[in-house]
This record gives sequence, structure tokens and C-alpha cells, in this order.
Amino acid sequence: MTKTRLAIRALRLALSGKNADPIHDYDAASADYDAFFTRVMGVHSESALDQVSIRPGQTVIELACGTGHLTQAMSERMQWRGVIRAVDLSSGMLAIAREKVRPSTELDVSFTEGDMQQFLRAQPDGQADIVVCGWAICYAKPVALLRQIRRVLRPGGEVVIVETRADALASLVTSLQQVFVDDPSLLTGLIRMSLPKNAQVVARWFSRAGLTVTHTGEGSETLPVVTPEAALEWVQRSGAAAGFKDAIDSAREQEVLCRVRDALAEQAASTAGLSLTHTFVVVTGVSPVDGEESS
Ligand SMILES: C[S@@+](CC[C@H](N)C(=O)[O-])C[C@H]1O[C@@H](n2cnc3c(N)ncnc32)[C@H](O)[C@@H]1O
Repeated sequence: MTKTRLAIRALRLALSGKNADPIHDYDAASADYDAFFTRVMGVHSESALDQVSIRPGQTVIELACGTGHLTQAMSERMQWRGVIRAVDLSSGMLAIAREKVRPSTELDVSFTEGDMQQFLRAQPDGQADIVVCGWAICYAKPVALLRQIRRVLRPGGEVVIVETRADALASLVTSLQQVFVDDPSLLTGLIRMSLPKNAQVVARWFSRAGLTVTHTGEGSETLPVVTPEAALEWVQRSGAAAGFKDAIDSAREQEVLCRVRDALAEQAASTAGLSLTHTFVVVTGVSPVDGEESS
């Protein structure tokens, strides 16, 4: 019965277009993002880059660059020669990226504040050698975004996507769901994200967009948190809970956090400890050369 009440509430919010905006939370998390998210997950972002061929002199587009961790890693691989066009919606995240990667004599780098889909629409056909999107395709309509990526890539140009898997941080998601099932009125907005179930789902998005898949991989990382308090701190300061503040009744934020903490503690007690695992997928593809169609 209570699950039904939550479903009805979610449906009402969806019908009235009450979507939670994650960008305020990214702005708020920006100062801590590298110390929390990048420190733990950054190694996997960089491994994803190993699957494509980034070289000096190339033209690279980076979608949702955040604090510029991948921008910096790519600049190094390009030996600070070439063009990087990066975009992100969060001014807080961009401020850190701009400090990290500065234009130089041979590196033409620009950071634009805006929506990645709109940004792509303004880019010319067939000019980019590489397009990268780290941990953010979930915020777009994936096939539509990938179609634009295919358009801006030169024939033979490569795209790399790394994204959280739908089953990531399962114990936290279960606790949060339980809190909303117990009291659906706490939910005031919907966090809209298309997290893939596995790499094959992303590979199908690529095929539908006319891109040829060149690599699929999956991985996981156990987060360095063992207590409910540490788990809540990690998800808030890493940006992993982006959209959360906008999805709940702000006057009751502390109440929600306490309830989630208690639900996590209950789970930890029944499973002999708390463990949060961040699962993810990496998929790369290539834009077909003339006359070649994607499989
Ligand atoms: C998890 S962070 C990833 C940042 C970076 N790519 C990295 O690897 O660390 C997600 C980023 O997506 C950005 N974002 C979310 N929706 C966006 C959109 N529609 N257009 C551009 N950026 C967006 C957020 O501001 C945030 O910086």
C-alpha cells in the first residue's frame, strides 16, 4: 500500500514536470568534488581514455567536463598541443576546471557554461577527432546526444563514454527508497537520470546513433566509507547525490538525512557491515568512414 502511495506521488510529480535540478548540488559540491569523487573514481576515468587514441594536435570536445579532471588528463596526452572545447552547466565546477587547464601557445582550450546537447548543436559537422563524456550521459537523452556526437566527429573519429551503472550504491538507494516509501510527502521532485543497466545497453545506444562500438567494459570500486555517516558525507560532497536537495522538501532535509542514516545503520547491522560499491561502464565507438555503416 505505501509503495503504491509513493508511485502515485512520483507519477503526479512527473505529470506536473517537477524535475529536480542537479546543478545547484554540483555547484555546492564543486570545492570537494576532486577530494571525494576524483580521488576515488578518477583512476577509472583515466583508464577509459586509454581505450581511444588521443594525440597531440587533435581537436577534442568534452561534454560535462566538471572540475576538468579529464580535461587535464587529455591535455597531457595531447602534450599541450591542439584544441579542447569543454562544456558544463555548473559554474562552480567550471571555475575549478578553468584553474586546472589554461590555454597556452599551442593549446587552444575553452570552457563554456551551458547544456551539452545545445553546445553540440552549435558545433560544426565532422571536425572533432575525439568526443569525451565522463559520468554525465545520464543527464541527456542518450541516443539524441550520441547522434549529435556522431555528426560532429570526423569519419573515423572516436567517442568515449564512462557512466555509473544503474545498480551502483545499491544499499544507499535502497535506504533512500525506504524513507520515501515510509513518507511519500518528503519527495517534492524527481531526479531524472538514465543510468544504464550494463555496457550492452550503452552499446545499443551507440548502434542506434550510427556509431560503431569498439570497446565495452564494466568495473566497480568500493567506496572508502564504512559508517552510515561517512556514506552520507561521501555522496553529498562527491556530487553523487546531485539533485537530492531539489528532490526533497527543503524544510525537512535534516529529517530525511537522519532517516536515511538510520536505514543504512539497520542494513549494516543485518549484513555485518556497510559497503558501498560504485559500479560503472565504459563504452567507446567510432564514427563510420564514408560508405561504412555501423553494425
Ligand atoms: C559526475 S560529474 C562529472 C564531471 C567530469 N566529467 C568528471 O569526469 O569528473 C557530472 C557533471 O555533469 C554536469 N552536467 C549535468 N547535466 C549537464 C548538462 N545537461 N549539460 C552540461 N553539463 C551537465 C554537472 O554540472 C557535473 O559537472
